[in-house]
Amino acid sequence: MSKVINIGLAGFGTVGSGVAEILAEQQSMISAKIQQPFELNIVKILVRDTAKALQHPLVNESQLTTNWEDLIHDDSIDWVIELIGGTTHAYTLVKAALEAKKPVITGNKALISEYGAELFALSKANQTPIYFEAAVAGGIPIITNLRQTLSCNEIKSITGIINGTCNYILEQMSVAKISYDQALKQAQELGYAEADPTLDVNGWDATHKALIISCLTYGFYVDPKLIHVEGIDTIQATDLVLAETLGYSLKLISKIKKQDNGAIEIRTQPSLIPKSSILSSVNGVFNALLVDGNYLGDSFFYGQGAGKFPTASSVVTDLITCYQDQATGEFRGFLPFVESGEVVAAELTKSSYYVRLNVIDQAGVMAKVTQSLANSDISLSGTHSPIDPSNPDAEFTTMVLLVHTCEYGKLKSALNTLQTEVKEVTQAPVVLRIEDV
Ligand SMILES: NC(=O)c1ccc[n+]([C@@H]2O[C@H](COP(=O)([O-])OP(=O)(O)OC[C@H]3O[C@@H](n4cnc5c(N)ncnc54)[C@H](OP(=O)(O)O)[C@@H]3O)[C@@H](O)[C@H]2O)c1
Repeated sequence: MSKVINIGLAGFGTVGSGVAEILAEQQSMISAKIQQPFELNIVKILVRDTAKALQHPLVNESQLTTNWEDLIHDDSIDWVIELIGGTTHAYTLVKAALEAKKPVITGNKALISEYGAELFALSKANQTPIYFEAAVAGGIPIITNLRQTLSCNEIKSITGIINGTCNYILEQMSVAKISYDQALKQAQELGYAEADPTLDVNGWDATHKALIISCLTYGFYVDPKLIHVEGIDTIQATDLVLAETLGYSLKLISKIKKQDNGAIEIRTQPSLIPKSSILSSVNGVFNALLVDGNYLGDSFFYGQGAGKFPTASSVVTDLITCYQDQATGEFRGFLPFVESGEVVAAELTKSSYYVRLNVIDQAGVMAKVTQSLANSDISLSGTHSPIDPSNPDAEFTTMVLLVHTCEYGKLKSALNTLQTEVKEVTQAPVVLRIEDV
């Protein structure tokens, strides 16, 4: 006999409709695979615009509501799927569902990174789990792998490309040689970027995901104010061309790392990746994570980080996990497993760097620049000065410095000194990290 689970689905947009379609098509296959006959019925759907939702062939009028409380107060609803997004109404709904002891499945990274600590505590207090595989890297099953498959490994570092929109924009700027604005417009036309792409391009969408990954991996919440976040919105075509010439790709990288003293480093920045690295070949809207575990060594997770079916696939995976967890009768939710931990301040994080200077092209400038940096104890592994054959007598020239590994704060301070000491440096330097992968 099939066990029937009634579901309240909040949100019937890109991902919500994908979940309904997968469930309609694949229930019997799922039952056969997990060897447990069950039926997942979507009995209520929360939307704002019912007429729009009714255009979908799987939706009937009796399912629809515009009142979120209908999902909570209907005793026949067993579980709640939250796919409305945002942190206001989603927070109210998820909190109420946990208090009503209805397991929650969500794909909302902003909600988990902002309210995770509170929601996980509520989940524990009510012995009601919350699942969020779709919140990080869409269709890539990274949450399940970090929580289960890799749990015997101490994770040394995770290096990720976890914002497909930025990856697409940077690739288009590099390969199709179009401007940042053109590439962003193209991403919006193709549905890869939101109408308001701020959180994608300023690095915070990737950082929300990095904070969730870090909490799962190292067990405690990190205060976002402590970490170094930069987006791709200030990247210039020149830097993509120069990166290519020097043998690198330019990607928005999120790094989560445990240092030898146990402190945790989290950061998101546009970074140079050696062309020989597997991460360099991640193009378009794809996402990837390179996980370094002490027993497993490197493992690589690659796939679609967004989109209707890849993301809905992760939501349905959580539904299956929820079903299996409920069958044991034990609470199997996630809880931070360490009270707190040390976080490396942004200024103390270390890497090597690419620094681009615009200088007045005259004799002795290179010597002045390198001497000033040497006085600040900054050492260089290389320099590069591209020549413009169409204008050999140009007044200004570009100078690229490749800086040996040092603290970010130390480099910033040395560059401030450089700007005051060497008047031939005409603009604020462009600083990009070079990622060691
Ligand atoms: N799209 C992706 O590729 C992707 C990938 C990973 C994670 N996610 C996450 O998944 C969630 C859903 O994303 P989505 O792309 O499916 O969003 P979407 O296409 O914009 O759909 C949102 C749905 O929620 C409904 N909704 C929004 N606010 C509501 C409110 N206050 N009350 C009632 N209904 C409300 C909307 O109803 P109306 O249409 O009637 O307004 C719509 O049905 C988000 O948290 C997102 O971050 C999405």
